[in-house]
Amino acid sequence: MYTEYSGCTLFDPYSSIQFIMLSDPRFPNLFILNHPLIQHKLTHMRSKETSTRTFRQLLREITLLMGYEITRDLPLTTQLIETPMQSMEAPVIAGRKLAVVPVLRAGIGMSDGLLDLVPSARVGHIGVYRDPDTHQPVEYLVRLPDLAERIFIVCDPMVATGNSAVHAVDVLKKRGVGDEQIIFLALVAAPEGVQVFQDAHPGVKLYVAGLDSHLDAHAYIVPGLGDAGDRIFGTK
Ligand code: URA
Repeated sequence: MYTEYSGCTLFDPYSSIQFIMLSDPRFPNLFILNHPLIQHKLTHMRSKETSTRTFRQLLREITLLMGYEITRDLPLTTQLIETPMQSMEAPVIAGRKLAVVPVLRAGIGMSDGLLDLVPSARVGHIGVYRDPDTHQPVEYLVRLPDLAERIFIVCDPMVATGNSAVHAVDVLKKRGVGDEQIIFLALVAAPEGVQVFQDAHPGVKLYVAGLDSHLDAHAYIVPGLGDAGDRIFGTK
């Protein structure tokens, strides 16, 4: 977005950021990352012609870009350092440290991109699979770093029914993690799943690259990108 000012064309970062983060009036805690690079990469991921190798690489890249956007609000403090020239108070991220929590198994495909961005982040894992008949999440593993003073980025590419996403956030909240300490990062969501997530966790922000049309009879997202786990790992 550019604005005219005194005959000059100025870049207006505020309006540009609003444009990159779309919202939907139905879902106050949903943010759709509309950055051109993110949208371009998502289109290639959706295509059934895209190979496992390319899909995995694109997921890593898109997660890094999404991670960059969602960490904009991290508070900064300063630290006294010595440059080769002089000492200075230089900015560093304040207080809470990040933890990345992929929801197994497809979330693993996103954690690499986030760790490229924040290599020192701790990593937890929440293992849930979807019961094929009930579509309800079944938990089989929880391993988390220490919880104090952390921001948790929980990642899972698909928010379909929303049940796994709700469950993963429940796991953290039951251990005393507050809403404001949790960010949920997904690639594609269905409106049905976003509604379920929002009803369960209205205080947790959900970031996605695409909000799709609906779920099919098997609770797959349409148009979606198919089974994210199978496409990441090359399974059937
Ligand atoms: N999980 C996926 O991987 N894809 C969907 O469309 C729904 C759930």
